[in-house]
Amino acid sequence: MAWKVSVDQDTCIGDAICASLCPDIFEMNDEGKAQPKVEIIEDEELYNCAKEAMESCPVGAITVEEA
Ligand code: F3S
Repeated sequence: MAWKVSVDQDTCIGDAICASLCPDIFEMNDEGKAQPKVEIIEDEELYNCAKEAMESCPVGAITVEEA
């Protein structure tokens, strides 16, 4: 299984929950928004973290989908 992670830059408000929950997956960019450090995840633990981040993001800016 592989999953693709993306952050909608227009929706993200820089809450940074994602980056603190999953520092291996998300990082904050110069504009104060999150961006994926990796686009494709193949590790189930990372996937679970990405999903948790997706559910925790207050504005629903994160998408995790099967790749
Ligand atoms: Fe942005 Fe949501 Fe992360 S607002 S910084 S994608 S928790």
